[in-house]
Amino acid sequence: MPPRNIQLNEQGRLRHFLTVEGFKRQMLIDILDTAESLSGVVDRSVKKVPLLRGKTIVNLFFEPSTRTRTTFELAAKRLSADVLNINIAVSATTKGESLLDTLYNLQAMHCDMFVVRHAESGAAHFIANHVAPHISVVNAGDGRHAHPTQAMLDMFTIRRVKGDFYPLTVAIVGDIANSRVARSQIHALTTLGVNEVRVIGPKTLIPPAVESLGVHVYHDMSEGLRDTDVVIMLRLQNERMQGELLPSEHEYYQLYGLTEARLAVAKPDAIVMHPGPINRGVEIESSVADGPRSVILEQVTHGIAVRMAVMSMCLGQGMEGGQG
Ligand code: CP
Repeated sequence: MPPRNIQLNEQGRLRHFLTVEGFKRQMLIDILDTAESLSGVVDRSVKKVPLLRGKTIVNLFFEPSTRTRTTFELAAKRLSADVLNINIAVSATTKGESLLDTLYNLQAMHCDMFVVRHAESGAAHFIANHVAPHISVVNAGDGRHAHPTQAMLDMFTIRRVKGDFYPLTVAIVGDIANSRVARSQIHALTTLGVNEVRVIGPKTLIPPAVESLGVHVYHDMSEGLRDTDVVIMLRLQNERMQGELLPSEHEYYQLYGLTEARLAVAKPDAIVMHPGPINRGVEIESSVADGPRSVILEQVTHGIAVRMAVMSMCLGQGMEGGQG
């Protein structure tokens, strides 16, 4: 018998959201559909629904974040949950308390969900394996491993603009080797059945055997971007690079920066995405980032509805019916 997916409860419903890997297509569609149904909450005069009233959600960010932390907080508040933002810099972890002891103390305060960002790959799985049975864990980015809610908000954005996944050719450009976002996007795109996923970048930033994930590798931008429907740019993850992988940011921009001229070989209606934070003049030209094909800020907005969907489904208040 295959090992049970720890992200599912005994009934096959979502309990934790740690990685996109291993989920069936229908679970991803359920998340997108639930997010679609919750996206209208923002248009109400009172931007709230009572789905998670009485629940307590703890944001535990051991790494910096702007978009993910704030949209998780907004999403929890729009679901009427109580939210605690733990400031790790002034928490007792600075006095030597272990990660697990911090969690057990928060658990003793009757919390229902931990949203965790951590520099170590596998941190969210480790926490999920140690929490009490009533607690859900959502991975907000762990090392190079996974950033599943980012991937799902990206899929939501693509579906909103393009309608259907099957005919699409999607290129992910840049530092694939150090990117948890790229890994989660590749799993989501291939599970949702896009026509082709390409990764483009210098040899030093493409992980070995990445083709085994079902992608095609390109080292030349003009070839890789040709006739694409979606172009996803990534920043150089300098904080996770080991050794000198690039001659200089200037040279990188000359070869792999997304300029209007380079984008001309993509389809005329191709969209440009970026999970943020963007580095203008390093991986993307300002006029592209701010231009008519860019959906970068729409991605941020959609993060709220997608995180509302994931949190409500994990805590058993969602609208999903599928099995993982
Ligand atoms: N996309 C993303 O994870 O951004 P933050 O680091 O600002 O959360």
